[in-house]
Amino acid sequence: MPPSRGRFATRAGVILASAGSAIGLGNIWRFPTELGSCGGAAFLLVYLLFVFALALPVMVSEFVIGRTGKANTVDAFRRLAPRTAWFVVGYTGVLGGLMVLSFYSVVSAWTLRYTCDTLLLRLGLGHSTGDYAALFQSFVASPFRPLLYLLLFLLATHLIVARGVGPGIERFSRFMMPMLLVIIVVLVGYSLTMPGASEGLHFLFRPDFSRLTPSVVLSAMGQAFFSLSVGIGCLLTYASYFDSRVPLVRSAMGVCLLDTMVAILSGLIIFPAVFSAGIRPDAGPGLVFITLPRVFDSLFASLPLVGYVFTSLFYLLLLLAALTSSISMHEIATAFVCERFSLTRRVGASAVTLLCLVLGAACSLSFGEWSGVRIFGLGFFDLFDHLTAKFIMPLGGLAITVFVGWRMKSAVVLRQLGFKGRTPGHGAQGRAPGLGLRLLMILIRWVAPIGVAVVFLNQLLS
Ligand code: PHE
Repeated sequence: MPPSRGRFATRAGVILASAGSAIGLGNIWRFPTELGSCGGAAFLLVYLLFVFALALPVMVSEFVIGRTGKANTVDAFRRLAPRTAWFVVGYTGVLGGLMVLSFYSVVSAWTLRYTCDTLLLRLGLGHSTGDYAALFQSFVASPFRPLLYLLLFLLATHLIVARGVGPGIERFSRFMMPMLLVIIVVLVGYSLTMPGASEGLHFLFRPDFSRLTPSVVLSAMGQAFFSLSVGIGCLLTYASYFDSRVPLVRSAMGVCLLDTMVAILSGLIIFPAVFSAGIRPDAGPGLVFITLPRVFDSLFASLPLVGYVFTSLFYLLLLLAALTSSISMHEIATAFVCERFSLTRRVGASAVTLLCLVLGAACSLSFGEWSGVRIFGLGFFDLFDHLTAKFIMPLGGLAITVFVGWRMKSAVVLRQLGFKGRTPGHGAQGRAPGLGLRLLMILIRWVAPIGVAVVFLNQLLS
């Protein structure tokens, strides 16, 4: 262990860094894609239920383990449960984090390319053929260009992470997150005024429960875990840098609310736009990359300058959101290798970046040269996406809540959650926990583990 670990300096920094991790392509690319292919409002309702009943308790649990264990995800479990096999949950997290970062960087690389092309006036506004499906397909299938952008994106992630927790991650998030929110709100304002926007709103808010199959429910659970970055020790690692005054429950609630708000807002950007242009909402991963440039084109045909600003802002927003998330995934493995093998941050981060570059290249190539390579019928990209969001993250979350709910001492957990001594003037000593805290403990001990198990069984038995 290096003698001193990094720290987040301010409370706002803590929330912003965690929210920066949670808010990303998961909200703006994956959420509309999943919602679009899972039928709309009914998916949204189940998703919301899972965010607050399952993913929130996992987030609080990760915060508790991280701040108590004060170490990377493997060593935190080792310290809190020595001579047991719980550290395996930590390894699953490191592995899951590497897998998420690998396929996530591929979508980020596409975003980087669209950002550059839009800014340089090579995309949209009559500067491209207008056949965005073909453009997207030929780009993702080409062997070298996506890899170049992948390299650039991973390099950017690497540089921020290598600078370390205080100076790198926190300052970056403090600056980016508020900017992101402003851009999103402006974009929603634009989108809602498009002709036919109300159809998009119906799709988003009027549920059709006949669409709720077990696999849609599993997808909603996967999306809830993915979007909140929980189940693989990402927020556990961040929480190991929190100081003892950070209010864990309030921070977790803040992150969940912010993340959910951004997901819904990005639905409000995308679906009115999609319906306004008469495009199918179940276009899959291309929804953002194929349909939106076309939407922007037709929408801003007579307002090229507004169109340029709107489109550039959108991709820039997506890119920044991706970066604040990718640094948090990178940090899981970086913290682990640095602390385990006593490496400097630069060396540790380089090892992680190199590994992700290789895995990310495999994911990227699965859209082209390696499209024939299939494992369980899926290419690398889809395999990594499904394995992490639908299996590793929920199962990790199950283990994490069981650990906090049943294995850790409740006095320790309750103290971390702010019970006892936080309001010394009010005689908190010896009092029973309040209703809110008791409810949270029920979520951690019962609702989250049983909920995850039921969704899996439901899928298995269907
Ligand atoms: N939550 C991030 C997003 O919505 C993705 C992520 C997953 C980040 C896992 C960290 C860990 O984009």
